[in-house]
Amino acid sequence: MKFKAISGVLLGAALGFFSSQACAGKALVGIAFPNQDNARWFSEGPVLMDTLKQAGFDVTLFYGGDDDVPIQQRQMPRMVEKEKVDILVVTPIDGKALTDALKAAKEKHIPVISYDRLIMNTDAVSYYVTFDNVRAGQMHAEAVIKELDLDNRAEPANIEFFGGSPTDNNAKVLWKAMISKLQPYIDSGKLSVPSKEMTFDKCATEFWNAENALKRMDSLIEKYHYAPKGGTKLDAVIAPSDGVANGIVAGLLKAGYDASTMPVITGQDAKKEAVKRIKDGLQTMTVLKSSTKLAAKVVDMCNAIVAGKEPELNNTTDYDNGTGPVKAYLCEPVYVDRSNYKELLVDTGMIKAEDLN
Ligand code: BGC
Repeated sequence: MKFKAISGVLLGAALGFFSSQACAGKALVGIAFPNQDNARWFSEGPVLMDTLKQAGFDVTLFYGGDDDVPIQQRQMPRMVEKEKVDILVVTPIDGKALTDALKAAKEKHIPVISYDRLIMNTDAVSYYVTFDNVRAGQMHAEAVIKELDLDNRAEPANIEFFGGSPTDNNAKVLWKAMISKLQPYIDSGKLSVPSKEMTFDKCATEFWNAENALKRMDSLIEKYHYAPKGGTKLDAVIAPSDGVANGIVAGLLKAGYDASTMPVITGQDAKKEAVKRIKDGLQTMTVLKSSTKLAAKVVDMCNAIVAGKEPELNNTTDYDNGTGPVKAYLCEPVYVDRSNYKELLVDTGMIKAEDLN
């Protein structure tokens, strides 16, 4: 028996049927993820699905094609009207493109959990579960400060910046935190940006896409003559995700860089391709956003929703989606580099040692 949503509360919760986790099986959770090309969403879909199933929920998982906004827009009413989901968990491809698509969910009082990325401009969002993206942005800056010894070095270092997708609120939060931590070093001349491209709009990478990053890296290499020997020195590149780092590193390898000459390259997601680059000296660090932590929080939220209770929250002020602050839970991201990837990722079974060979 599946419960139905009625006027703002779930029938089961209203009648007191679902006060324990054991009763979760009666709720169908619909997940909408952005794409399967990016290592994060590809691997995280099954993790979230299995975690919810283990907690007793029924689950249906949809991917938005290849970051195809209209596909994701069609999935929203379809999940509500045809699949008859009881709870929606959505990572938007374009945070601002789901306002109309979520009207059916809102009308039918289906709770919507915004997963990792904030869905903007709609009051259909009930909760937001994500990582502390400010902290993640600071970690990128900290990597550069530490690896280039910016507090002690005499000669200026050259850096180029890449931002995430303009369609994603996370990208802007991360950028702001990263750049404000590096700004004093730019102002004092310790960091120099040969391209002078220092705004989010100039440096953004549409859909966080590796190919878009490769194109921009190729053009920076050509215009500013970056080369491991004999050209302009490049000391660091900020890559806001491992996918973007993938494109940047590909461009640098083509230009003759190798592990011994590779600039400091940051990243985010700690998926195996990037961790292999870290192991091989082709990427400096990444930010682990543990999919199991996030999935556990989604389960907590779904259990609370089914029980008619408020889930545990730790931020109710900072994530305004254009209709007011969204009730959020922020998980802690973790800094990963050569010194700790084995302990954090391999020893814990998150990544198999043989996948890094
Ligand atoms: C996520 C990142 C991810 C990026 C690209 C962002 O919203 O927070 O973890 O790398 O999307 O998929």
